[in-house]
Amino acid sequence: MSEHWAKHDMGFLAGRRHRRLRQSHWMRELVRETTLTPADFIWPLFVIEGHNERQPVASMPGVERLSTDLIVEAARAAAAEGIPALAIFPNTPGHLRSDGAEEAFNPDNLMCRTLSAVKAAVPQIGLITDVALDEYSSNGQDGLVRDGVILNDETVEVMVRSALVQARAGADVIAPSDMMDGRVAAIRRALDAEGFDDTTILSYAAKYASSFYGPFRDAVGSGERLVGDKRTYQLDYANSDEALREVAQDLDEGADMVMVKPGLPYLDVVRRVRDNFNVPVFAYQVSGEYAMLSLAAQAGAMDRQAAMLESLFAFKRAGAAGVLTYFALEAARTLNR
Ligand code: PBG
Repeated sequence: MSEHWAKHDMGFLAGRRHRRLRQSHWMRELVRETTLTPADFIWPLFVIEGHNERQPVASMPGVERLSTDLIVEAARAAAAEGIPALAIFPNTPGHLRSDGAEEAFNPDNLMCRTLSAVKAAVPQIGLITDVALDEYSSNGQDGLVRDGVILNDETVEVMVRSALVQARAGADVIAPSDMMDGRVAAIRRALDAEGFDDTTILSYAAKYASSFYGPFRDAVGSGERLVGDKRTYQLDYANSDEALREVAQDLDEGADMVMVKPGLPYLDVVRRVRDNFNVPVFAYQVSGEYAMLSLAAQAGAMDRQAAMLESLFAFKRAGAAGVLTYFALEAARTLNR
């Protein structure tokens, strides 16, 4: 080969120098494909009874259960950083739990009192409520149980009543997290019948039976009560076609937005849902994922802030419209700095 051609080949290869676009901070900023802002976050909070009460969650360093008055303070802080919405989870005391989970539809339960308090004090922040029975039942299951079997339609009836008391107390978005069949349609019908046309439904459409929920169950007090597992209603982690069927059905039933959960280990599912349905898809970076990252950082295995931002960007890259994350306030503060 002549020297001329050799040079020409070099020139051609040089045309594919991908590092040109990474050479400086400004260049990397210019060509960045995704963005991450505080508006991408939904902040999950655990509420407990009492006043000026905070309890650390042992397995989630940096996360505390808060009494209603402190949830209001947290809501103020979140709104100030530009976080659009909170997801609230009650830690129902043992004496109020029952096999029938009746506390779920008590209009004066901890969840409802917290919703009205936050609505009154911080009206500009969105309030998302979890609808499932494990936060109110004596056995930690998301559904009513008879002879060891999780009852579907009977559970849906209780969920509908629970969603209604939440809507009346000021919930903007109802998020059924139980994986019973038909619950989205039933909740939509009941909301519409009461004139809650604008109350939105974010369904936990693709929720997997996962060991990553361990710290959450500790935080809401359902873990030590849980009898058995949730595999007859939550998805098998070996599947993703099934997740698409669940999403399709929830959208048919009237869900406005859908969620995939857990998050990081299921980004393939987020991407498939995003590519197959033209609706906002949220992902939940669940308690076990938060625990993994924050405990690893605590042990010096990686940098907390860097790992936090990298993990949150990954959700956006996978196509998520937003992320439920226990890092929300910390990440928002970091991004706003
Ligand atoms: C209740 C519910 C769970 C989570 C959210 N809603 C636990 C479960 O299904 O057992 C998990 C959230 C987390 O781990 O951060 N149905």
